[in-house]
Amino acid sequence: MELKEVLLNRRSIRKFTEEKVSEEAVQALLEAAMSGPSACNCRTWEFYVIEKGEILAELKDVSPFSKIEAPLAIVVCGNLSHALPLKLSEFWVQDCSAATENILLQATDLGLGAVWCGIYPDKARAKKLAKLLEMPGNQIPLNIIYIGHPAQEQPARTQYDEKYVHRVR
Ligand SMILES: Cc1cc2nc3c(=O)[nH]c(=O)nc-3n(C[C@H](O)[C@H](O)[C@H](O)COP(=O)(O)O)c2cc1C
Repeated sequence: MELKEVLLNRRSIRKFTEEKVSEEAVQALLEAAMSGPSACNCRTWEFYVIEKGEILAELKDVSPFSKIEAPLAIVVCGNLSHALPLKLSEFWVQDCSAATENILLQATDLGLGAVWCGIYPDKARAKKLAKLLEMPGNQIPLNIIYIGHPAQEQPARTQYDEKYVHRVR
């Protein structure tokens, strides 16, 4: 797919078939994630790749908006041990968001569906998810990305609107 096609075709998909996501596709998703930019190239990210049925089932209780049945979930989380000092440490959110968008775009290009379910900055959701995945104390989950073969269609669309554009010339 051309880049523009990928961008416009990326839509949140919340219904999936039972077909597994291949190991090659998982690898491509992770490579896409880690080719994203990060502040000072700190790469403050960690990726939990979840295919275990019991854990996928428990993910549904982490957030009221994460009740999605999918064969695969990737939890993107920040590693504060790699973060910049003091106030700049919060850049991990942007590092992990860039990685997340890369995963969504790669999934689209592979013909997979995906949806980003927000966890951080909701402290209760982040705590529940960190406990479920037995994360060490220096990691904070940003989101759950559900991924699979789509069982629903969402039309490609542009949301381009001049009203959001402020030109400084
Ligand atoms: C930070 C963030 C958090 C989101 N959280 C959820 C969520 O918890 N559950 C969900 O179903 N979708 C979630 N979404 C997906 C948005 O609802 C979706 O991107 C938006 O409605 C636009 O639709 P589109 O992705 O099809 O373009 C989230 C998206 C972002 C960027």
